[in-house]
Parts: sequence; C-alpha cells; structure tokens
Amino acid sequence: MRVLSVASECAPLVKTGGLADVTGALPRALAAEGVEMRVLLPGYPAVMAALEDVAPVIDFDDLFGGPARLLAGMAAGLDLLVIDAPHLYDRAGGPYHAPDGTDWHDNPERFAALSWVAAHVAAHGAGDWYPQILHGHDWQAGLMTEYLRSMDAPGIRTVLTIHNIAFHGNVGADRLGALRLDPSRFTHDGFEYWGMISALKAGLVGADALTTVSPRYAEELMTPEFGMGMDGVMRHRRDDLSGILNGIDHEVWNPAKDPLVTPYEKPAGKLANKAALRAEFGLPEAAGPLCIVVSRMTFQKGLDLLLEALPALTARGGQLALLGSGERELENAFRNAAGQDANVAVRIGYDEGLSHRMMAGGDAILVPSRFEPCGLTQLYGLRYGTLPLVALTGGLADTVINASPAAMAQGVATGLQFAPVTVEALRNALAHLCDLYAQPKIWARMQRNAMSQPVGWDQSAREYARLYHRLAAGK
Ligand code: ADP
Ligand code: GLC
Repeated sequence: MRVLSVASECAPLVKTGGLADVTGALPRALAAEGVEMRVLLPGYPAVMAALEDVAPVIDFDDLFGGPARLLAGMAAGLDLLVIDAPHLYDRAGGPYHAPDGTDWHDNPERFAALSWVAAHVAAHGAGDWYPQILHGHDWQAGLMTEYLRSMDAPGIRTVLTIHNIAFHGNVGADRLGALRLDPSRFTHDGFEYWGMISALKAGLVGADALTTVSPRYAEELMTPEFGMGMDGVMRHRRDDLSGILNGIDHEVWNPAKDPLVTPYEKPAGKLANKAALRAEFGLPEAAGPLCIVVSRMTFQKGLDLLLEALPALTARGGQLALLGSGERELENAFRNAAGQDANVAVRIGYDEGLSHRMMAGGDAILVPSRFEPCGLTQLYGLRYGTLPLVALTGGLADTVINASPAAMAQGVATGLQFAPVTVEALRNALAHLCDLYAQPKIWARMQRNAMSQPVGWDQSAREYARLYHRLAAGK
C-alpha cells in the first residue's frame, strides 16, 4: 500500500504543534502495517537543509508564481518529497507566519501549491512511484481534491484528517484565478463558504474519507458548539467520518530510555528528575504536587482559566511550572503570576529538551483546554507517570480515566477530568488533585496505571491501514 501524506509540518524538521508530531510519527508506525508512506512537504529552509540523497523528480515552469522542482530525498529517517519553490518557501520565519507574527500574505498560494503538487504526483507519479492514496492534513491540504478533478488520476483515493477545525484557510473569491480553481465549483456544495474560498471546506466535501484525531472530537465536530461553522458539512459527511486516536512515538517519548532525563521505569524514578526540575525552575520544596503545563498559549488551551484557579493549587502547597508561548497578554499574565508567588515559575519560549525534563519531573500535567481534538501532552504525561488533569473534551476525554468513585473502587483511574470547562470546576479538580496527592499509596497506584496505558500507535496504525485498504478496494 503506497500512501502520500500531504502536510505543512513534520517533526523533527518543522513543528508548531501536535500536527508535526503526528505526520512525523505516522510513516514509521504505518511501516509496521505494510504501508509505504512518503511525506510531501514544502521546501522550507529547515527542510531543504536537512534533505539528503536528493534526486530531482519533476520540474515545474510556473508553480503559483515561479519555477519550482519536486525533489525526492531523506531527512531524519523520513522518506520525503519536497517542493523546492524558493518564491513560496525560502524565507526566514515560521511555516505560516512572518518573523513579526503576521500571516504570510501568500499563504493561500503557498498551500494551494502543496495541494496542487500532491494531485500532480497522484496523476503523474514521482519518478516511478505512484501513490494509491493521498492523505492530507488540515486546510493546507484541502484543495488537493479540487485539483485532482482536472487531472487524470483514476483510482486514486483521498483522505483528509482534521487536526483542528478552527482553521479554515479562507480567502476572498478574487483569488479564484490565482489559485487555479474552477469557478463552477464555487458553490454551496463545493468550496464556497460565506462568499469566501475555503480550502478546508474543499477537502471536507471532496475527500473520499474524513478522519479526525479522536472518536470524541469526531462526534463534537458535528455540533454547533465545536464545529466552528463546519458542523453542517460534518453532519452531511457523517458516514465517511471516523475518529482515530493519535499515539505517541515511543522512540522519542519513553522514560526508560529518554536521553534528555534521568531514565526510569517505575514512578519512584521520578524523584531525581523532580529535584532537578525544581532546581531548574528555582522552585522551593513544597508539600503539594508539582504541576506542569507545556502548551501553546491560545484561547483553545484555557490557560486563562488556570490563571484564575491557580490559588486553589498553591494554597494547598501545590506548585506550577509552565513552558509555553503564544498570545502576549497570556504570556505577561503568567509572568506576573510567577513574580507574585514563589511557587509559580514560568518559561516563555519553545524548548523541546525542557519539555522532556518537565514530563519526567512533574507530578501532574494540567490541560484545561476549551476544545482539544486529541492532545499529545496528556499522553506524554501518562507515559511518564505525570498524572493528567484535563478538561472533559475531545481527545482528553478519550485518553484519561477520571478518578471517579467507581474508577477508584476498581483501581483503574489514570488522572482527573473536569466539566464544564469553567474556573470553578477547575478549582475543584485542583483541590481533588491535592487530596489524591496527599495519599501516597493511591497516587502511586494511579501512576502505575498511567504508565501502563497503551498510548502508542499500534492500534491506530492498524485503523489507518484498514481505512486505506478499504478505500483502495473501492468501498
Ligand atoms: P497542539 O497541537 O494543539 O498545540 P498537542 O498537545 O497536540 O497540541 O501538541 C503540542 C505539541 O507541541 C507537543 O509535542 C508539545 O510537547 C509541544 N509543545 C507545545 N508548546 C511547547 C513549548 N513551548 N516547548 C516545547 N514543546 C512544546
Ligand atoms: C491539533 C490539535 C491537537 C492534536 C494535534 C495533532 O493541533 O489542537 O489536539 O493533538 O492537532 O493531531
């Protein structure tokens, strides 16, 4: 089974969030299922610099405004197809944003190009390699199904995975020509969305199958509360939508052999890491749990709620160590909180190594998201015996076993969940966390449960493989 994964980011080469972890982990996870997955990526500077064994496979005279080449190569153990298009991708800054934080003005063209090349590879191959399935991720790959319509690629089947439906990739209808789209498809049942061109909607209506990254989010997507304006389309595609949970890469996230921490196999092994983490964050000894947060700082993640609820933790001897970056106001508010309370410490920035040390040294990880398609940090928390306290939503609901009376009686709890996602409910959950932490035997039992949860890719890789085979068989 040959699959071309079409992605705007891919760890460890280029990453802004969990999407990269997933597109970086899938090829290895799927290889075990007999799937040969190559990843099509934009030729950002970091990707071009990492590419080895490079072979040019296709030349394009004009790829949305300039000449370009498709290169085949390897990087970080991944089998890649890379679009070398300097006019679109060779610039300092992030994959989506200029250094000043604003969106690149030509993002519509940059990701239309990604989608168009995907369709081109489906029709013409890359050298002698022809994919059977195009598997796109989020709006950046949404237009691939539109471009496929005008190409001769019989038999190719398409999957679009929704990692976050908040981003639509909308652009004004005046770009129809620039994006090489068929105006007759600019309709309600095509890619038109409130008078705009919507790359996401194109994929949602056009892909043969839709997936998202947890079963619960698949249900939520069909509701007005979580569908972000696409719930009608999602309900329409109900029969083609499934939720396949993300996993974590055991090569990267494994406390027993993580080179970035003092490795451990049992919860007791966390003590040395905790002492080191306290020292690193300048936190004093304390009687309560050392809680961690590793997160983008945006409305989605509910960190403003945590800010308000924080006294419920520190009043009980608990502590917070936060690593994150994002909205300036939130960053500053957390900096202030740290300035006012010796038991709160904050690092604003992005630091992969520190995130590992935090997973190893923390007692609990807090994820109070308003919505969360899957979430990966609670999975790392489980694996590292750092008990997750999470909002009851999306993948957070699917992956944590709440310490309810029933789960405690059966001895199966792995963390805490709270609902509704309000300051008050979060306060109560933090108080409950402190109560549990004060009972070492119960806490240790929960840690053992957490560490033995299956959070890898095995099961989900099988589900993706089954989906590809079903599609390829024309079902
Ligand atoms: P999202 O993709 O919505 O940001 P996920 O939980 O799926 O949420 O994935 C976030 C990923 O980004 C995780 O791998 C997490 O460890 C990482 N991450 C987020 N913020 C930081 C940071 N400041 N430093 C290091 N890693 C971070
Ligand atoms: C998105 C979601 C996150 C998910 C990640 C990977 O960024 O916000 O919940 O884990 O994609 O699928």
